[in-house]
Amino acid sequence: MRNFPVTDPITHISWKRDRLLVLDQRLLPRRIKYLTCRTAEDVTMAIGSMALRGAPLIGVAAAYGMVLAARQGRPALERAGRRLRRARPTAVNLMHAVDTMLAAAENVAERRLIFALETAAVAFHREDVSGNQRMAVLGASLLKKGSRIITHCNAGALATGGLGTAVGVIRYAHHLGKVVHVYPCETRPYLQGSRLTLWELMQSHVPATLITDNMAAHVMKTCAIDAVIVGSDRIAANADVCNKIGTYGLAILARHHGIPFYVVAPATTVDLATPDGSRIPIEERSAAEVLKIFGRPIAPPGARARHFAFDVTPHELVTAIVTDRGIVRPANGRNLEKVTGKSHA
Ligand code: MRU
Repeated sequence: MRNFPVTDPITHISWKRDRLLVLDQRLLPRRIKYLTCRTAEDVTMAIGSMALRGAPLIGVAAAYGMVLAARQGRPALERAGRRLRRARPTAVNLMHAVDTMLAAAENVAERRLIFALETAAVAFHREDVSGNQRMAVLGASLLKKGSRIITHCNAGALATGGLGTAVGVIRYAHHLGKVVHVYPCETRPYLQGSRLTLWELMQSHVPATLITDNMAAHVMKTCAIDAVIVGSDRIAANADVCNKIGTYGLAILARHHGIPFYVVAPATTVDLATPDGSRIPIEERSAAEVLKIFGRPIAPPGARARHFAFDVTPHELVTAIVTDRGIVRPANGRNLEKVTGKSHA
């Protein structure tokens, strides 16, 4: 990745040994404000309230949250782990981070507990950063020169500990001259695409044009799109991919238009204990987030709405999954297990 800036101008997560600083993503792109998490409970709140979000970043923050819990002694660790796991249900990186930290605490003397957990959390974070870089290189190798890309939700630096997953690939491929234009979908109802992805792309000088989610079919048909690239919150053992609501629809549209559909996610997003996509818990959030935009009602008083936050794309619609351990192509359970090197739980 010669001459490629792998760090971002804005720090969005920063470990200070007795506290974790996180950029409050709810205020972006209008305001830059940091939250200070001094306890595991603060981290749980930050995850649950969406102050920080994105599957890999949730995992990294949870790992540091467990270090803060360890400062209260071993019994606090189990308790914090249970609460953190409940903060959000879909991103499996969260569960993976808690498991990793609990494993790091096993057979460690009480006086060395904080040190052991801090070492494990920093390693977990570093692994995410280096994994992002490996995925950027692998993902860029799939793209041809001058590609036009659609992406969905936010799978950039803000959603990870490092460069990003899907947006990491896009940024690196742009650096290589392989990406000439990106169309991020606005990502109703939480607007991660317009508030976060577009902001990140503009900051990194990647030419980008915002589209609303319902423009994707037309843009695929008329704007010479070469690939759809998204991240993931959980990939089941059969390679079904769970990601932000709207991803499934994009995959169907991409298949219809003969456009490759790529998923970029680290091995911490792979959940071999979940056999297929139908078993992935889909977060359902408040209907108010659909019925209002920035607190302003957009439907008649008393209207009902559902807010499914994620959907599942069947693996048959996925051209390839780019992981930090290699490319899974075709996307199926056998290849996923072979590449990520994990065996079924
Ligand atoms: O609800 P969010 O904002 O946490 O959802 C995030 C996504 O769905 C991302 O696309 C996903 O985590 C991609 S991996 C960086």
